[in-house]
Amino acid sequence: MKVNGKHYRTIWLEEGGSPCVKIIDQRFLPHQFIIEDITNFNQMVVAIKDMHLRGAGLIGVAAAYGIYLAILESAKTDSFDTNLSKLAKELAETRPTAVNLIWAIDRLMAEVAKVNSIGDKIKVAKQTAQLIADEDADSSQSIGIFGVEIIEQISKAKKGDVVNILTHCNAGWLAFADYGTATAPIYEAHKRGIKVHVWVDETRPRNQGASLTAWELLNEGVPHTLIPDNTGGHLMQHGMVDMIITGADRVTSNGDAANKIGTYLKALAAADNKIPFYIAAPSSSFDWTLTDGVKQIPIEQRHPNEVRYISGLSNRKVEEVLICPENTPVANYGFDVTPARLITGIITERGVCSATTESIRSLYPEKF
Ligand code: MRU
Repeated sequence: MKVNGKHYRTIWLEEGGSPCVKIIDQRFLPHQFIIEDITNFNQMVVAIKDMHLRGAGLIGVAAAYGIYLAILESAKTDSFDTNLSKLAKELAETRPTAVNLIWAIDRLMAEVAKVNSIGDKIKVAKQTAQLIADEDADSSQSIGIFGVEIIEQISKAKKGDVVNILTHCNAGWLAFADYGTATAPIYEAHKRGIKVHVWVDETRPRNQGASLTAWELLNEGVPHTLIPDNTGGHLMQHGMVDMIITGADRVTSNGDAANKIGTYLKALAAADNKIPFYIAAPSSSFDWTLTDGVKQIPIEQRHPNEVRYISGLSNRKVEEVLICPENTPVANYGFDVTPARLITGIITERGVCSATTESIRSLYPEKF
């Protein structure tokens, strides 16, 4: 996607010289556009854990480059295999919910295990990480092409009137290598001249909707309105939402979907108001081994200060302010699970399916 007219991906490897993975440091958006250089494994661990980058797809690509950096570092030690396994385990523990992290680590480790020399392992790790980044961008683009058909149908039913879409958190291009998932059909619709308007949930506590999704949509010229998280139900009751599209951090083989905390409540309100609720997610976000999202998907709990403090621009400086008594006990669950029964459909890179095992199997028979 473009920032100030220049095309960027959210992560890329700088070629030539010593290896350097470049990322857009999302902690500073929308106020500052800062590129961070990641030159060693530990910096990548910190970038994922402390959310310099975030979003399921992007976490997966970053983990792939993380393994590449881990291999470069392990190559300098006497015990390559032991060191690499230790670093892979450390990387796997950075963010528990988004399954793309483990998926990418497992894929890199399996590819690397197929070759013998350290030189070949380095080469294969780099190629596979780059392939994962390209595939991530391609799947997002396909999700856009399949998802836009749904928006087009609603637009036709409304005789060309504006289609109002609600989204939660950021499953935009900032959450992937490029294009995004929940936003990809929206960008495609906008490109095709279909009238769309997006209700953007601010998404407490970290406000990825306010700081990232709103910034993306503004950059792309897509009409949108930022709303406090609790507004969606009211809008739905008054016919102001035609559909909901969110991303997912992990989808089970029967179609339950973990996404940013608060998504479940949107799905409940959507069901009550008979509004279609779609999940947009690539196959790298599916956990084929799970069959019950509520019971089986690990839910990340983050630091209480993310809830106690809020950050924003004040006198041109980004500052954090305390919004509650300093030591108030806090619960900070990062994600919740929307059961399959509340999901109208899942938009994947292979097409749209229902949130049922049979329908998911029809798109991905090789996974069952
Ligand atoms: O904690 P985050 O910001 O990494 O959470 C990820 C998300 O932004 C959402 O859950 C998103 O809607 C799905 S990830 C593509």
